[in-house]
Amino acid sequence: MGLLEGNVALVTGGGAGIGRGIVRRFVREGARVVIAEFDEERGRTVAAECAELGGEAHFVHTDVGDKASVTGAIEAAVSHFGGLDTLVNNAFAPSPEVLLEQKTDAILQRTLETTAWATWWAMQAAFPIFKARGGGSVINFYSIDVETGAWRHADYNMGKAAIRGLTHSAASEWGRFNIRVNAIAPAAAGLSFERLCREHPGFEKVSASIKPLGRVGYPEPDIAPVAVFLASDMASFVTGQTINVDGGLHLWGFNSRPQNLAELEPQG
Ligand SMILES: NC(=O)c1ccc[n+]([C@@H]2O[C@H](COP(=O)([O-])OP(=O)(O)OC[C@H]3O[C@@H](n4cnc5c(N)ncnc54)[C@H](O)[C@@H]3O)[C@@H](O)[C@H]2O)c1
Repeated sequence: MGLLEGNVALVTGGGAGIGRGIVRRFVREGARVVIAEFDEERGRTVAAECAELGGEAHFVHTDVGDKASVTGAIEAAVSHFGGLDTLVNNAFAPSPEVLLEQKTDAILQRTLETTAWATWWAMQAAFPIFKARGGGSVINFYSIDVETGAWRHADYNMGKAAIRGLTHSAASEWGRFNIRVNAIAPAAAGLSFERLCREHPGFEKVSASIKPLGRVGYPEPDIAPVAVFLASDMASFVTGQTINVDGGLHLWGFNSRPQNLAELEPQG
């Protein structure tokens, strides 16, 4: 028996990166999954991969920045699989990486639509289904970039900060219906990481070196198991949490690692 046997999940942006890893891991644990993905080829490819794994996944073309499209995807989970137990708000639509003063209203609007509004619309649409089923699990995606004030991400950081607030409010208010609402703050090799590795030779090495665990994280083996946990009954008493799944990247003190560490350590 898998940990998610009988569970119906919807994963936005399930066609690549962390979303793809979660879809594949969920299916391996027995869940039936809706892949709510904008890129048709990616979505269909991951659905085919799931069939090869012996699982069931259903691609629904979705733009998370469009309310009707988001609610349509939630409805598709009900019509195709008979319900919904887990909602993973993971999709990521990149925006122009420019300085704050160069971000336009249009950029901010699209980013807020694909982050804060997308999560809001999906949660509002999933709520009555969860309530009728006696519970559910929402897994939102947050970012360490909000904490660090990452450059050229002003719009993204605004959207992610809003998602954190929504996560807390929903956890407070929907606990009475056994709906758990948590967030993951990941660091993993998604599409942006792959692009940065192509554009900047040595990026992977630097990315590994700034994490206490000393390596890059990968979606399926490193991030997805935490999503499985949050979706499963093992997390039945966990709500309102944001879990850093980042190899320790969030520990700023790691930067104070002594230069002469090798000398300080006992030999042998
Ligand atoms: N990868 C990281 O290190 C990292 C760090 C912090 C936060 N996050 C968060 O984790 C989540 C996943 O990130 P990732 O790196 O795996 O992303 P990714 O870019 O690798 O994949 C994103 C997926 O979302 C899809 N998508 C894009 N626009 C969409 C839209 N409008 N509607 C539906 N699908 C759409 C893409 O086609 C793609 O399949 C995001 O919420 C991101 O903000 C990631």
